Amino acid sequence: MEARSHTVEDILAAVKDIPPLPAIIPRVMGVLNDPDSTVDELSEILGSDQAIASKLLRLSNSAFYGYSKHIGTIQDAVVLLGFKTIKGLIYALSLYSSFSQNVGGYAMKKGELWRHSLTAAFVARTISAKCRIGNPDQAFVAGLMHDIGKTVLGEFLGKSSDSVINSVESNNISFIEAEREVLGVTHPEIGAKLCEKWNLPVELQEAVMYHHSPSECESDNPLVYIVHIADVVCLMLGVGIGVDGLTYELDDSALAAIGKDISFIDDIVIETEKQLADIDSLLHL
Ligand SMILES: [Fe+2]
Ligand SMILES: [Fe+2]
Repeated sequence: MEARSHTVEDILAAVKDIPPLPAIIPRVMGVLNDPDSTVDELSEILGSDQAIASKLLRLSNSAFYGYSKHIGTIQDAVVLLGFKTIKGLIYALSLYSSFSQNVGGYAMKKGELWRHSLTAAFVARTISAKCRIGNPDQAFVAGLMHDIGKTVLGEFLGKSSDSVINSVESNNISFIEAEREVLGVTHPEIGAKLCEKWNLPVELQEAVMYHHSPSECESDNPLVYIVHIADVVCLMLGVGIGVDGLTYELDDSALAAIGKDISFIDDIVIETEKQLADIDSLLHL
């Protein structure tokens, strides 16, 4: 194999250089986590960031949310959607720019990673709500974040993607193992580092870290299983799989952990298929 054109240290340095989440995020989270906060306080903060405010309004007026009445103000959106939903959406909208870029090394077209992440987010939320496991709002955010490491690694993978694919095919190893072999580090590891850097909750960091290998997670964290299953559902639907869909396998212990069998996956696939057009309508906010 060719010598690596970079080191693991180069990749970790790139993680350090990634700008923090927009300044609005800690302020919004502060309000959302304070049980005494009011709709007006949250609306005021959201209204101070025009980019986020206008996207939020377009999202809440989209067919997916199904409100017949036009939502004209941020206050109305906050009341209708509720604090928990707003929380997930703010992360989503803030991350939109990094997800919209090309993720060259993973053979994904522009916007495909965003489509995959958004779909995984909705599926994760559905699983959490249906099984009454974990918090659907947190599951949404975890689904959204799970492949965030690809936005960093994609750049480094660019020239090496052929070696990763060759490695997967000729050595019959998983994409994650090939990533480690070629890059020295994997996208779940880099994603978890990003979440840590952004001070996101530990459960979320774990869900990102173990989304390909849920049984390796030592703590009892349902988000890990939910996100793994949501990811598999996306792969079955062919949503944004890129080259890492080549050898992706369902970890059966994930289904056992949420008390379901394989027919549950079929049900979720069928349900999500019906929602795909609605989810796609949110791609270009
Ligand atoms: Fe992944
Ligand atoms: Fe994924």
